[in-house]
Amino acid sequence: MWYNSRVKTDKPRKHCGATVKGRFMGKIIAIANQKGGVGKTTTCVNLCAALNEAGKRVLLCDTDPQGNATSAMGTDKREAPVSVYDLLIGRAEPLEAVIKTPYGDLIPSNKELSGAGIELIGMENREHVLKNALGKLKNDYDYILIDCPPSLEMLTLNSLCAADTVLIPVQCEYFALEGLSDLVNTIKLVRRRLNPRLDVEGVLMTMYDGRTNLSMQVAEEVKRYFKDKVYAVVIPRNVRLSESPSYGKPVLAYDSSSKGARAYRELAAELVKRNGGR
Ligand SMILES: Nc1ncnc2c1ncn2[C@@H]1O[C@H](COP(=O)(O)OP(=O)(O)O)[C@@H](O)[C@H]1O
Ligand SMILES: [Mg+2]
Repeated sequence: MWYNSRVKTDKPRKHCGATVKGRFMGKIIAIANQKGGVGKTTTCVNLCAALNEAGKRVLLCDTDPQGNATSAMGTDKREAPVSVYDLLIGRAEPLEAVIKTPYGDLIPSNKELSGAGIELIGMENREHVLKNALGKLKNDYDYILIDCPPSLEMLTLNSLCAADTVLIPVQCEYFALEGLSDLVNTIKLVRRRLNPRLDVEGVLMTMYDGRTNLSMQVAEEVKRYFKDKVYAVVIPRNVRLSESPSYGKPVLAYDSSSKGARAYRELAAELVKRNGGR
């Protein structure tokens, strides 16, 4: 269920975000980890729905060619008239790509996006294309969440370049830490070369199973490394979270009182609190 319309911001601006020349600027958060299956898309979709439910103006930008976030927001990616691909190749204006959903606004992805990496190579300022596009929408939102693909190539670099911060979901499993050092190195590289202001928004433990020692050990290890960047809320393993995408709904709409829905509401509250209530 979606309809394409211009971005209308009818929600009151009751936050105290950063201002530029007296205007509120939205915060762009890339949800990244080059490992697949760690909960990036699940986090992006449900954090978007939870922020929307809390009255924030939120936009989800799907930069994964698989388009899982697009489907999970209830949008048929084959029918989306304009996608993030059109923005990247300059075929459409950002506002034209925005779709309104009951869970927040969405810039959809589609399969065409898998070729975007190659097309971008020939472009000037190729890492800055998404940043320039989202920059035009920044003032219309409190938060813009970018769902990154599971790699560290051009689309992820574009996302990290566009972002103010990066939120890192970490699956509570044995090899979790191994991939993290690659991501940390990429963040350092992006800071040096492309986006000096890029900060870590937070580290989120996902698929936590309190009954296993392993989950607890991984969480402890991640805390030793990232310290207070790790969110107090952990996302439990919850079957409702894995079922909801096939119904084209975030878990908040699919089963509002499930453990998964409650955890993502808590995450939204913790994130907003860390951002000074913005
Ligand atoms: N907390 C959770 N509990 C149960 N299943 C989950 C949870 N988080 C994610 N999943 C499932 O695990 C799979 C991978 O999650 P996904 O968010 O798509 O990861 P990524 O975007 O990092 O590849 C999906 O099938 C998803 O439904
Ligand atoms: Mg994903």
